Amino acid sequence: MKATFKILSTALVLLSACGGNPNSGSNSQSAEDRFVDSVVNSLTLKQKIGQLNQVTAGQVEEMEALAASGMMGSILNEANPQNLNRIQKAAVDNPPHIPVLISRDVIHGYKTIFPIPLGQAASFDTALVRQGSEISAVEASSDGIRWTFSPMLDIARDPRWGRIAEGYGEDPYLTSVMGAAAVRGYQGNGNLSKPTSMAACAKHFVGYGAAVGGRDYNSTYIPMRQLRNVYLPPFRAAANEGVATYMSSFNDNDGVPSTGNKLILSDILRGEWKFDGFVVSDWFSIGEMVNHGFADDMKHAAERAINAGLDMDMVANAYKDNLEALISEGKVSEKTVDNACRNIVRIKYRLGLFTNPYISTSQDVKYAPAHLAAAQKSAEESAVLLKNNGVLPFKNFKKILLTGPMSDAPHDQLGTWVFDGEKSHTVTPLVALKDAGYEVNYVPVLTYSRDKNLSNLSKAIAAAKTADVIVFVGGEESILSGEAHCLANLNLQGAQSQLLEALKKTGKPVVSVIMAGRPLTIADDLNNSDAMIYMFHPGTMGGPALVNLLSGNVTPSGKLPVTFPKSVGQVPIYYGQNMTGRPASGHEVLLDDIPAEAGQTSLGCTSYMLDAGFGPLLEFGFGLSYTSFEFSDFNINRTSFSGENDEIKVTFLIKNSGNYDGAEIPQLYVRDLSASITRPIKELKAFTRVFLKKGESKKVELSMPLSSLKFFGLDDKEVLEKGKFTLWIANSSNVDKAAWKCDFEVK
Ligand code: NOJ
Repeated sequence: MKATFKILSTALVLLSACGGNPNSGSNSQSAEDRFVDSVVNSLTLKQKIGQLNQVTAGQVEEMEALAASGMMGSILNEANPQNLNRIQKAAVDNPPHIPVLISRDVIHGYKTIFPIPLGQAASFDTALVRQGSEISAVEASSDGIRWTFSPMLDIARDPRWGRIAEGYGEDPYLTSVMGAAAVRGYQGNGNLSKPTSMAACAKHFVGYGAAVGGRDYNSTYIPMRQLRNVYLPPFRAAANEGVATYMSSFNDNDGVPSTGNKLILSDILRGEWKFDGFVVSDWFSIGEMVNHGFADDMKHAAERAINAGLDMDMVANAYKDNLEALISEGKVSEKTVDNACRNIVRIKYRLGLFTNPYISTSQDVKYAPAHLAAAQKSAEESAVLLKNNGVLPFKNFKKILLTGPMSDAPHDQLGTWVFDGEKSHTVTPLVALKDAGYEVNYVPVLTYSRDKNLSNLSKAIAAAKTADVIVFVGGEESILSGEAHCLANLNLQGAQSQLLEALKKTGKPVVSVIMAGRPLTIADDLNNSDAMIYMFHPGTMGGPALVNLLSGNVTPSGKLPVTFPKSVGQVPIYYGQNMTGRPASGHEVLLDDIPAEAGQTSLGCTSYMLDAGFGPLLEFGFGLSYTSFEFSDFNINRTSFSGENDEIKVTFLIKNSGNYDGAEIPQLYVRDLSASITRPIKELKAFTRVFLKKGESKKVELSMPLSSLKFFGLDDKEVLEKGKFTLWIANSSNVDKAAWKCDFEVK
């Protein structure tokens, strides 16, 4: 009892010393350290281990008892505010009086669902991503959730992998800036102690997206240089943004499971990046090290994990059950446990949980009009116009034949990882088109994306006769992407492609809208469409967003955050591959060009496929618009630069030369022409989003610090190498069509 009072009073004195705001004041660092030390030093070993233990929700009475025993550092999967306040009270009222960190997978919205992260990436709008995350935090924290397992920063270059939906695509730079924006939004724009903020979690650390064959949980084989240059940068950007936590990934990379990988969890994360938050395992991933054959049993797995630098055990009970014994056997030092505990208490402190452990707002902020408006804007900006033969935007179309399995699929348009958003709040295309006053004849034909039953096809064909336009809304159900939902076939599922083909044959204009969690192989479907809008899974407000895009109230502006392959056999295909010894020449000899009994020859002598050619179906950064943009008056500040603090600045004029207001996303790509190692053919280094009214021109600057030309070379050291580079300003990664090109030198 005495000890209890001592901890509390010390904590309170220290809290008042920093004004109750853990992050305020110039002495905040030392006040924080003093507070954290005072808490951790006052704990018994068992209590410290309790802080390292994360449990999943169960009966509330059981949870209260666990919290009261001090063995619950964190809880996940409970979102009932009354229950959470009860659990929190049990923790705070009993020794060691440390609040529980309440966590949840709030991935692309809590109640108001935003587009899936891959869709958000297509907006190339960091401000919107930041705002979406902030709104997610405001809504989730109103139910007591103060820690989200987001953003997912896994570079994903394989659309078979279902979790490609949860990240920002294939590119290290785009993923870095989007991830940093999400962290900022979740974490109260730099003020984690705000009761409406959530601690973010950069996951899955690291390499998870490179699973062999696109099969989830599979091994990865990422060599060190590629890890450093491609997979780690988004995680480093998150560290620079002050992300509070990391989650170790399930995969083993070249034989070492991330959960037991000291190199990444300690040497890089703490040693190089100076991270002072904490690392949580993925679900039972400490236990999975036994399945990996990396540990003899749970105890051995706990030893390997904690000694590698893994602070919190998600649901495996490996730490709770084994750390005391491991310490007494000398296999783990108590100092290691102290450090892990300190890291966790530090984040609780920064969140202001010691002063304000309970749910602080009774105001209902969920589905607030401003939140829905932001979700709609995000869905509008996430949509990518892939084809338009002039049918869009609608001019005189009033009568719409609406068909396809995603036309009125309130659950599925929300996308993967939605625990809390309710489909009753979803506005589907059917509802939104009707609300907008269109005469909608809805003939679904296929009722869900895998449906093969075309028995109602004749009804749709008959209905087409009286329609001005056919709108087909198809794609994937939400359950077909996300964790553990990988696919070997990326065509539209079920009979969707047959339906589209039949619709096209009616001769009426066909507009296809695809809602999906990944790039699909849609070459034939594009041919059977006069226009196609790719919305990914657009979330709660997908319907109204679509109406604005179809009607021309909003001009599509999204750009693909990932390469779309022609066929699965091209995978992995991504724009930033290294320069090969036999670069694409433009000369393709394809299957049908080869005569029978052809003699041995190396044909095009370059890296491509006889049945697919060099290129993808659609390249990274691609997206059409209703309007047109002209780039002119290019200027670069110099063509010779030196030192990593130097900066390259390119200015130019963009004119909206078409007939609609709209936004363009100019992109800056760079190629390092010759280096100590092979470098990518091109790398995105900067972009911006420019909104222009029709006829309007704006001067734009794209800049990049020279430090962004650094890479990890032969000796695992980051270098800025001297030499020649080429830079392009383009509206996609197809730099052959770039608006401008310039060579520069680093001296
Ligand atoms: C497993 C997933 O890999 C991870 O992303 C998620 O945050 C945890 N489960 C918790 O639900």
